[in-house]
Amino acid sequence: MKRLLFVDDDARVLSGIADDLALPELEWQVELAATPEEALERLDDEDYDAIVTELGMPLTLLTEARERHPTVARVIVGERPAGAKALDALAIAHQFVSKPLSVTELAALIDRTMAIHRLVTDPKVHAAAGELDHLPPRPETYAAVTRMLNDPNVSLKAVAARIGEDLAIATQLIKVVNTPFFYRGERIRTVLAAVQRLGPARVRDLVLTLELERIPATKCGAFSMAEASSHGLAVANLARQLAPGIADEEDAFLAGLLHDVGETVAALQLPVRFGRALTARRTRRLPDNTVERAHLGATHGELGALLLALWGFDYDLIAAVAHHHEPWITAGPKVGLTDLLCACELLVEGIDESSATHRQGLAWLRERGLYDRVMGPWSQALREQGARLAV
Ligand SMILES: [Fe+2]
Ligand SMILES: [Fe+2]
Repeated sequence: MKRLLFVDDDARVLSGIADDLALPELEWQVELAATPEEALERLDDEDYDAIVTELGMPLTLLTEARERHPTVARVIVGERPAGAKALDALAIAHQFVSKPLSVTELAALIDRTMAIHRLVTDPKVHAAAGELDHLPPRPETYAAVTRMLNDPNVSLKAVAARIGEDLAIATQLIKVVNTPFFYRGERIRTVLAAVQRLGPARVRDLVLTLELERIPATKCGAFSMAEASSHGLAVANLARQLAPGIADEEDAFLAGLLHDVGETVAALQLPVRFGRALTARRTRRLPDNTVERAHLGATHGELGALLLALWGFDYDLIAAVAHHHEPWITAGPKVGLTDLLCACELLVEGIDESSATHRQGLAWLRERGLYDRVMGPWSQALREQGARLAV
């Protein structure tokens, strides 16, 4: 039985939902607190799994709850704020649930939030990640640019200037945007020109790629940062192309870039054990996640999710990264970002039925209808293109 605490000063709003959630088949125990003070008292005295409140309630309630009870999942019923407030809100709540919403949808969302929340507070995952303060710091230029893009009053010139403050990134960026992969026109010579031609969102994502490449994960000989980076970009580009009808295109690109960031964490924090895991993974006899759990105590998805949570990323992205090889763990009723990432990972690697990881993923994606809808036609198109090139 899971215990939820609803906090609602206007009892009409949430109590209706609370009554519905108390259905015996959902196995929730739902309690109501009328004021933030009462809610905090009850959190201090008893064990709850999640606290659910409305956006109208004082945010200090959730900041306090985070301080005093970090293991309780925090859910806000209401639209995710846009603009400058969006990032602050993300730091406070794990999940935003917009209205109107069916009870089963809300229950599934809370379940999912709690699953991810447990994952990032799981001592096994923490042990595999080692000292948390030794993890790579948050990519600051990316975070700053994201904040600026959320503000409609910020000019492209200001965005370019902020990127320019990080000289190493700016230099690399100019180099990368001039490769045929991104741009085939006249040579781009300034960050501002890159922002104007490719669009600020694309440039921001490239900045993130470059910041990830800076992580010095060189202690593990079997792991190549350059390969990891080009693999991330390949999955990101494919995910964006296949996203329509499944997920937001920009979210898909970002998830693709970050999906294997946990491998970088493993290479950095546990180089010897991760090296052994990579060798064992090459036989493809067991699913990669089984091998990684045996060698590291956690999977690269889980380690990536932990890092992204510490960096303050959105929970949907964290869920997708955590379970891109096991989407069934937190999949909702609708096909979504996690399924898409799983599919793109297999397509970029090249579908291989002799791999246990691929067999597991394919079985799931066939069940979800994603294989017939997207993957089959895509592989067929690639094969035909290959045949044409070979002639
Ligand atoms: Fe992966
Ligand atoms: Fe991957």
